[in-house]
Amino acid sequence: MKKSIIALIVLIIVVFAACTKKAIPSKTVAIVPAPVDKPMAPPKPVLVAYTTSIQPLIEAKCSPCHLPARGGNKADFSNYTASKERIQDMIARIQLNPADRGFMPFKHDKLSDSEIALFKKWQSDGLVEN
Ligand code: HEC
Repeated sequence: MKKSIIALIVLIIVVFAACTKKAIPSKTVAIVPAPVDKPMAPPKPVLVAYTTSIQPLIEAKCSPCHLPARGGNKADFSNYTASKERIQDMIARIQLNPADRGFMPFKHDKLSDSEIALFKKWQSDGLVEN
């Protein structure tokens, strides 16, 4: 009888101790979230713009014929609006073979693939000015 009372008391103490331990945290642990690697921001798509890419290309490859300021008397490509309006025809012509009728640049070497791609990308990027 005595033994069981002692056992009961011990049990109560153990249970009590277990409960109080949980209720009162002995130490306050600052919970700092583990540094999560920020996902890399996707690179901003670089749009081909008239001022930075197309105008210099026209000045280099379609000059002087299409630049009135340089004495050209063919279709005027010296500004954004005019170039934008003619882009379809420009792309069609620069993709022809030099021997084809209507090939541009007239009597000059064919543009490089990357130069042609630039004209095309300008169009597919939405013909942005700057
Ligand atoms: C050496 C002079 C010369 C150069 C350089 C030249 N062109 Fe031309 N271009 C012409 C001539 C001449 C015509 C008119 C004959 C014709 O339509 O085929 C013309 C006509 C055009 C036309 C038709 C315009 C229209 O509606 O009358 C387009 C588009 C054109 N060129 C695009 C270009 C592009 C783009 C370049 C540069 C990559 C270029 N040309 C370079 C001489 C040139």
